[in-house]
Amino acid sequence: MNRKTLISPPVLLVLVMLAAITVVFVIVLLTSSNETDPGMTPDDYNARGAELVAMGNSENGAQLIVSKTCTACHRDEAGSVGPSFTGIVDYAGTLRPGFTAEGYLLESILDPGVYLYNNYSNSMPALGTQLSDQELADIMAYLMTQHAQ
Ligand code: HEC
Repeated sequence: MNRKTLISPPVLLVLVMLAAITVVFVIVLLTSSNETDPGMTPDDYNARGAELVAMGNSENGAQLIVSKTCTACHRDEAGSVGPSFTGIVDYAGTLRPGFTAEGYLLESILDPGVYLYNNYSNSMPALGTQLSDQELADIMAYLMTQHAQ
């Protein structure tokens, strides 16, 4: 056997281990991409969402969705990058098992890629994490007023 053309056993072992790690990593990535933030259960979102809505001011929220650039994507017109907010509260609590409207809205803002509403693209930035608690509360309270007209 010509030893020079063979990969030495220790190198082979390292290569096999690297390949195994890569496979495990890819599987974890693929299977975790559709899960909620592992730290927060639907009940956590529901409870926190209700708390925020209770302390929110919807009139401030109406200003904030403009100043925080939400309305750049969330417009009533056709061709809007994101869904219109009009009517959102009517279905917010019906889309995901275990989520109330408040919980759904909170998760949509904090972790937008977890669930994509109505085949919209995964293009919403996680702006919610840059908002103060009060700003988030105000926006949540505003969204909770958005029944279909
Ligand atoms: C760059 C575009 C963009 C910006 C800016 C943006 N969003 Fe979104 N948003 C989207 C898209 C696209 C979706 C639909 C896909 C999804 O569910 O993540 C969405 C979904 C949502 C949903 C769920 C909608 C539904 O009808 O179920 C909520 C709530 C929401 N956004 C709130 C906000 C708030 C609040 C802000 C501002 C702090 C904001 N978004 C800023 C693009 C955007």
